[in-house]
Amino acid sequence: MRIALVGGTGSFGRALAARLAAAGYDVVIGSRDAERAAAVGSELGVEGATNDDACRAADLVVLATKADAAVDTARELRPAIGETPVLSVAAELSFGPHGVVPTADARSVAARIQDVVDGPVVAGLHSLAAATLGEDEAPDEEALVCGDDAEAKALALELAGRLTAGRALDAGPLASARALEGLTAVIVNLNKRYRGRAGIRVTGVG
Ligand SMILES: NC(=O)c1ccc[n+]([C@@H]2O[C@H](COP(=O)([O-])OP(=O)(O)OC[C@H]3O[C@@H](n4cnc5c(N)ncnc54)[C@H](OP(=O)(O)O)[C@@H]3O)[C@@H](O)[C@H]2O)c1
Repeated sequence: MRIALVGGTGSFGRALAARLAAAGYDVVIGSRDAERAAAVGSELGVEGATNDDACRAADLVVLATKADAAVDTARELRPAIGETPVLSVAAELSFGPHGVVPTADARSVAARIQDVVDGPVVAGLHSLAAATLGEDEAPDEEALVCGDDAEAKALALELAGRLTAGRALDAGPLASARALEGLTAVIVNLNKRYRGRAGIRVTGVG
């Protein structure tokens, strides 16, 4: 399966690329800059391309740009993405004196991405950190995915299951994305407060 990582030159995209390539996925790193994509791709042993070219041949598009660029980037890439499923990992956060909070937008980034692309959008992986994904061992935590399209969600859950030593769990419809995105703020605050690397483990199911 071919996975396009749009904005995959960032820390999260790089960590995903390395783990997914090791798991046997055909990975292409996308960037606004073809040279940067090629450089990062060759560093990680995967292909690099412009975001546009990366999306055209993909089975799943992961939007891994910085969070506040995700919706505009998806809108620009609409023709290249076509009907291909999209996985949104973005969590928009505000950093203030009392900690990190989700932005005030009532609608999730993922729902806003669904407004501007033709393929089904799922949201997930928000609670996995680039730093822990980048370690030798897969992180011992769970990955949550939500979405309305069963096939797209199954693809994302399969991919999520290859990233973590924990379970990949179906967290419901795309309307749950706002909660998953907001959870990132909680995790960042926990990391700051306890100088740790918080992950999520769900008890009582499965
Ligand atoms: N970091 C984590 O631990 C983590 C964990 C879970 C989820 N996430 C989510 O993963 C996504 C990426 O996180 P990150 O930390 O890797 O972000 P990042 O390093 O800040 O940015 C990723 C890439 O976004 C592209 N980019 C930057 N500005 C852009 C713009 N205006 N338009 C289009 N592309 C732009 C850049 O790629 P080019 O310049 O090469 O185009 C950059 O390398 C975010 O949505 C974040 O919420 C991150």
